[in-house]
Amino acid sequence: MKASASAPGKVILTGEHFVVYGEPALVMAINRNVHVRVQEKQDDSIRVTSTLGYSGVFKGEKFIHEKGGDETRKILMPIKVSAQAALNYLEENLGLNIEVDSNIPVAAGLGSSGALAVATIAAIGKLFGVDFTEKEIIKLSLEGEKIVHMNPSGIDQTISTKGGIICYKKDEGASRLDIEVPIPIVICNTFIKRNTGQIVESVRIKRDRFPQLINPLIHVAGDLTGQVIKALKQGDLKMVGELMDLNHSLLTAIGVSNKVLDRFIHISKQSGALGAKITGAGGGGCILALSTLDKREDIAKAIHEAGGFPIIAEKVDRGVYTWIE
Ligand code: MEV
Repeated sequence: MKASASAPGKVILTGEHFVVYGEPALVMAINRNVHVRVQEKQDDSIRVTSTLGYSGVFKGEKFIHEKGGDETRKILMPIKVSAQAALNYLEENLGLNIEVDSNIPVAAGLGSSGALAVATIAAIGKLFGVDFTEKEIIKLSLEGEKIVHMNPSGIDQTISTKGGIICYKKDEGASRLDIEVPIPIVICNTFIKRNTGQIVESVRIKRDRFPQLINPLIHVAGDLTGQVIKALKQGDLKMVGELMDLNHSLLTAIGVSNKVLDRFIHISKQSGALGAKITGAGGGGCILALSTLDKREDIAKAIHEAGGFPIIAEKVDRGVYTWIE
């Protein structure tokens, strides 16, 4: 028997980084998914195969490399950790074959590692006849995420589990928002790889150096997310765009933007975006442009012509789901 799970990626509409310090952030699940398929294995090892070209077997502390470069163990380790967390929780010690397929760009701020952890855990539960609750999936998936990035707020795991649009607060969790107006977005992937954990750490260092300056920015970002929620409920996308621009200025102030990201933000706005900002940790990865329904193609074309990789994405209401094959 094989069990599968699919979990969506995400864009952060407002509040990344500031969410790590307890402020609310607004996040939306998008129609990009990780698919994980699991099957029992006759020994106690965990074999992981990814369609991105990596494969190997974890046996106790040992790793037997099968496919991919020197980084294979490091790349597959979070999957093994998530799988182990689910097995321990279920009090099972069987081996597993885990196959991973994904169309979420990796290390780009679109929640690929959170979705991977969530889908791995949900699929393993299903294999053993258990439909984990959302709370269980989020808790178990955070164990894997801590390897990828030391101090996660939990926002990625939560949106991948729940889907839709949520307002997320680190200590209070998520509240789902029913937004009626469509939120047309264009993402631009710069393909500049970066490490979320390191960027989160750089913000912590800046805050420790200049607490009287950075702490007020953190609070302002929280208020900004509150105003975006109001604007979205009123269907005022123009105001949402303006607030996203302001949010980007705050992200620039804490040092997570760069020339390439700023250039694509500028290009998106020139071609009709209502607002644009970094989405995710910054330092590389993606920017997010808020569009009107008729401007998406224009923005995507301008990004493409400027050498970026545009993605026109949609909100998805469904979070992780499982099935038996
Ligand atoms: C990552 O998607 C968002 C950050 O705020 C980190 C986190 O919340 O864990 C940069």
